[in-house]
Amino acid sequence: MDGSPKQLRIGLAGLGNVGAGVFKNLLKNAELLHERTGAELRVVRVAVRDPDRKRDVDVPAEILTTSWRELVDDPEVDVVVELIGGVDDAFELISSALRAGKAVVTGNKAVLAERGKELVQLSEEQNAPLYCEAAVAGGIPIIKAVKEALVGNHIDSIYGIINGTSNYILTRMTAEGIAFEEALAEAQEKGYAEADPALDVNGWDAGHKAIILAWLSYGRWLHPDEVSVTGIEDVSLTDVAFAISLGYEIKLLGVVRKAPGNERIEVRVAPSLIPRDHILSSVDGVFNAVAVRGDVVGETLFYGSGAGQDATSSAVISDLADAAENLINGVGCTGFVPHGDFGQALPLADTVSGYYLRLGVADQPGVLAQIANITGRHGIGILSVVQPEPEAPAAHIPLVLLLHDASQGTVDAALAEILDLGAVQADHALLRVESLKS
Ligand code: HSE
Repeated sequence: MDGSPKQLRIGLAGLGNVGAGVFKNLLKNAELLHERTGAELRVVRVAVRDPDRKRDVDVPAEILTTSWRELVDDPEVDVVVELIGGVDDAFELISSALRAGKAVVTGNKAVLAERGKELVQLSEEQNAPLYCEAAVAGGIPIIKAVKEALVGNHIDSIYGIINGTSNYILTRMTAEGIAFEEALAEAQEKGYAEADPALDVNGWDAGHKAIILAWLSYGRWLHPDEVSVTGIEDVSLTDVAFAISLGYEIKLLGVVRKAPGNERIEVRVAPSLIPRDHILSSVDGVFNAVAVRGDVVGETLFYGSGAGQDATSSAVISDLADAAENLINGVGCTGFVPHGDFGQALPLADTVSGYYLRLGVADQPGVLAQIANITGRHGIGILSVVQPEPEAPAAHIPLVLLLHDASQGTVDAALAEILDLGAVQADHALLRVESLKS
C-alpha cells in the first residue's frame, strides 16, 4: 500500500444486485470504514458486461470497463472483488488475480464449492489472501464465526437454513398457503434469487454453502457428488399442511456434521420437517440461521438476512476491511487451518434421520397392516400414523406415517416394497424429520 492517506484500491468485477450494493454502501459508510481500518476504501475500476445498462448506482463512466482482465492487470488495483457469479469465468478471474499477487474477495459459493481446493492452494502459494464471507448466509458473518470466534472448538454439527429464496418461498406457502411459483416470482422481484433461480429451488445454492461450511469445519473439500442435495421444487401445500398438523414446519435444511460413531462427515441438504418448538422453525422469509455446535462452546445460533443487496454487500465490505488492514500491516495470505480432516463423506444410504412418508392408499381393510408389516421387517419403527377421515368416499386417501430414526438405505428399500403394493399409489412424498438434538 502506498501513498498517504492510505488507500485500498478496489477493482469491482460485476455490478449486478450485490455489486451495486457494494459500490453504494462503500460510499455510504466511507467515513466509518476509513476510521475503522485506517484506509480509504476506494473503487478505482469496475468491470461490467454492458456499460450502457441503466443502473441505480452512479458509477463514473471513466472507471467502467468491459474486461475483468483490466482489473487484474492494473497495478493500481490492490484487491479484486469477484461478483460475476458462475464457475468457469469466475475461476479464471480469481486465479488470475491471485497469480498477479492481488487479494481477492468473492461471494461466489458455486466456484468455491467446485474449485475451492485449487483456489485456496493458489492463495497460499501466491501469499495472496482470498476472502469469502459473502459466500455463505448473506449478511450473517458465519465464515468469520467458524474460522475465528470458534477457532478453539471441534465442530460437532452445523444445521443451517442457508438459502433465503427457498426459505422465503416455504414461509409464504406455510403462512399464506400461496403457490410455489407465485412465491418464487416474489423472491426474484425482491432480488433474493440467483441469476439462475434453479440453483435456489433445486437446493444447490445451499449445497454449495454446505460444502464451504464442511471445509471450514472438517478441513476437506467434498466433491459435489459426495453431497446429497434435494431442493424444494416438489414440496406441496398438502405436505406443508400435514407437517403443521403434526407439530412441525418444513424448512430447506443444510446438515454438516460428524457422523455419530465414526470419523465420517455427513453433508446434505433437503426439505425437512423440524419441530415447531425448535428455534430454527421460527426463521422465516429471507432470513437465514446457522446453528453451530462446538465441543467447547456448546450450542450457538447465528441469525440474519440471508440474501439481498444490502445484507450481502455488508459481508463483502467486511472482507474489504480485512483486506485493507492486512495490506496496511503487510500481511499476505492469512492462511487457515481447519479443524481436523475427517477424510471421507458418509454415503447417503448410511445417513440416519426420522422420516415423514405420505402415501395415497386404497381405503380398504388390511392396507395399513401390509405397510406396517414391511416397515417392521426392515426394522423401521412407526412413530405415528395420520389418516384424515375423507369428506366424501374416495378410491384413494392420504395416509401419513412418521417413522423413527432409520438409515436412508433401509427406508428406500422399504419404500420400494410399499410402492409395489397394489393398494398404494405411485404418487407419494418422503421427507426427512430432523430432531436437531445432536
Ligand atoms: N440466492 C441466494 C439465497 C442468495 O437466496 O440465499 C444468497 O446466497
